[in-house]
Amino acid sequence: MSESFEVEASTGSYSVQIESGAFERFLTEMPEALVIADAYFQPRFEALGRTAIFVEAHESIKSLDASPALIEEIRSRGAGRQTHLVAVGGGIVQDLSAFIASIYMRGLEWTYVPTTILAMADSCIGGKSSINVGRYKNLVGTFHPPLRVLIDPALAETLPVVDRAGGLVEAVKICFCRGAEAFDKYLACEPGTEMSTEALEKVVALSLRSKKWFIEIDEFDKNERLLLNFGHTFGHAIEGASHYAIPHGIAVGLGILCALEFERQAGVDYAGAPGVARLEAHLEKLIEAVPEVGAHLKGLDLKDVMERFDSDKKHRREVYTLILVNAAGTVELRQIAKNEDARARVESAMRAVIGRN
Ligand SMILES: NC(=O)c1ccc[n+]([C@@H]2O[C@H](COP(=O)([O-])OP(=O)(O)OC[C@H]3O[C@@H](n4cnc5c(N)ncnc54)[C@H](O)[C@@H]3O)[C@@H](O)[C@H]2O)c1
Ligand SMILES: [Zn+2]
Repeated sequence: MSESFEVEASTGSYSVQIESGAFERFLTEMPEALVIADAYFQPRFEALGRTAIFVEAHESIKSLDASPALIEEIRSRGAGRQTHLVAVGGGIVQDLSAFIASIYMRGLEWTYVPTTILAMADSCIGGKSSINVGRYKNLVGTFHPPLRVLIDPALAETLPVVDRAGGLVEAVKICFCRGAEAFDKYLACEPGTEMSTEALEKVVALSLRSKKWFIEIDEFDKNERLLLNFGHTFGHAIEGASHYAIPHGIAVGLGILCALEFERQAGVDYAGAPGVARLEAHLEKLIEAVPEVGAHLKGLDLKDVMERFDSDKKHRREVYTLILVNAAGTVELRQIAKNEDARARVESAMRAVIGRN
């Protein structure tokens, strides 16, 4: 099976192609391109006789500090304005490559081959690059979509379970935000950390087609696209307070559970929205697939989690900006006055989710 579609962006449209087992063909179709690849794939490149600039996928390499060395490396390999860049890797390699492609000689065309479920089902479209500066994560960035996104879902077969679970959390988040039809189709693929490549291919296509709707209607994060931050304000607080021991995708899953609990505390009854219970059950399953999460949750300091929640840059002075689910099961952006009641609800939602083990 293979499928492809176009994503419209202000810089022009770009294509997305999904085909299991096509990785080697993707590379041979671009013999002249300069490749930046996750070092994990070095043996595979060597077996193909293909050179690349290999980078270790650590947060420290997608940083302003680490960029000059890579830019010099690219220059020393003779890259000019016409050079086509290819990035092979997960979100770290994507962010770094997109950033370099957007600034090198005022912009190079590039192709992205995502290799993690998170990157295949979510970050590969949307055009964003986010770069760390000092201790600040994702502080600076650009919009510079690739010319093509080439996805081989079979690459995900070697991914550790934690990355499989985390990637699926972002995929289900997108499908749930898109609405009941997309969410039902997602669950019909029987997604889980042990799913087949064939089923993953369907999930990736569904998630990207759902995300396509958000980014085409709101490319620069002003309205609808903000809904995709579902679970992220609660999640970032948990992720940060765990000092990143709880990885992003898992933290977002926990954050979605918090957002639902926050509304329940205000008396919202989800009995009329059966999708909510199905979402919760699915998230529980994904989180439980990563056994070490329980111990990391136990080690969390609730006060630290609350402080991080309060200082999220999406809030305003008087109000919390949150993505919540109403009683009909629809995701919406809400402004909640910062008062004692709201703080108490945040704390008790956090306590309910953090203390779940
Ligand atoms: N630009 C965006 O829109 C966007 C969106 C979401 C996240 N991000 C960023 O993405 C980063 C996280 O990316 P990620 O979760 O995709 O993973 P990653 O790039 O951090 O990679 C995770 C690990 O998996 C390994 N790996 C990659 N592909 C593999 C494969 N096929 N088999 C085995 N191992 C493999 C990597 O070497 C690394 O050790 C974060 O820095 C986050 O900020 C960016
Ligand atoms: Zn996320």
